[in-house]
Amino acid sequence: MTDHDLAIVVEGLRKKYGDKQALDGLDLTVRAGTVQGILGPNGAGKTTAVRIMSTLLRPEEGRVEVAGIDVRTRADEVRSRIGLLGQNAAVDEELSGRQNLEMFGRLYHLGARRAGARADELLARFGLADTGKKAIKQYSGGMRRRLDLAASLISRPQVLFLDEPTTGLDPRGRTEVWSAVRSLVGGGTTVLLTTQYLEEADQLADQIAVINHGKVIAEGTADELKTKTGGDRIDVVLHDTGQLARAASLLPGEVRMDEDRRMVSASISDRMAALTETVRALEAAGIEAEDIAVRRPTLDEVFMHLTKEDAA
Ligand SMILES: Nc1ncnc2c1ncn2[C@@H]1O[C@H](COP(=O)(O)OP(=O)(O)O)[C@@H](O)[C@H]1O
Ligand SMILES: [Mg+2]
Repeated sequence: MTDHDLAIVVEGLRKKYGDKQALDGLDLTVRAGTVQGILGPNGAGKTTAVRIMSTLLRPEEGRVEVAGIDVRTRADEVRSRIGLLGQNAAVDEELSGRQNLEMFGRLYHLGARRAGARADELLARFGLADTGKKAIKQYSGGMRRRLDLAASLISRPQVLFLDEPTTGLDPRGRTEVWSAVRSLVGGGTTVLLTTQYLEEADQLADQIAVINHGKVIAEGTADELKTKTGGDRIDVVLHDTGQLARAASLLPGEVRMDEDRRMVSASISDRMAALTETVRALEAAGIEAEDIAVRRPTLDEVFMHLTKEDAA
């Protein structure tokens, strides 16, 4: 891989707010044309990293190149190549979606005609053509975020930063934004997306960097992360909550009990052996199972595992 293929390079990034070390040696490389997920809990340093990469904040230490350009020494050139969707976007509530986009176009020095044409093109692309004339204050959450996305694309950025694009949206709005992000990447844009939703990273990102306390604690595809941390699991759902504890004692290793779902769950190594042994053991104990399933761990479980290790 040459540096040319890399849309973002971050090395040894450090940033403090007072005593608080928000970034503590963050390293990251993102290939051009891919979606990079930055996954981490509240306070992990996601927004700080995005603000530095998008030239809004200066780090104390470290190197950051976006589209091959140093963000510290050539911030203006970086700015002309990126788009940013922050946690709070700056749209005018009273204006219509189309008017907002036109205004952004004018800010980017498109002439009136080109700003209008670009607004229409983006409204159509994000399924907002019918609602373009409505005032933003009448938009649903999902529509608003899609308009924010459209606004961040006015200048045709090479690299787009999305800081928690679906936080606060209902499931429908989230799905709408997901398909909007997917359609973006088809166009060759590199996307760096932060999220607290493990499912979101799994859905959208080619590569995921898990961060905690300002540094990367694990990296890979969703599948690689799942494999890295504990392998497969077996879930057993019972008819009778009263039998949960006994069922748990029959499963191998560290077992989790979930009373609400009448379920016990354990980490396993051999799928077939775990399945047959569990069925036999339950039968011998006279415990009736409603469902038994062997599955890969969810990213939630992966994340819990990783942050536990990191804290230890
Ligand atoms: N302007 C600020 N002043 C002081 N502390 C801050 C400021 N911004 C962020 N922090 C702290 O830095 C850490 C990282 O914050 P942030 O980058 O916003 O994390 P995230 O976006 O992952 O939630 C947190 O502990 C947060 O409280
Ligand atoms: Mg944040």
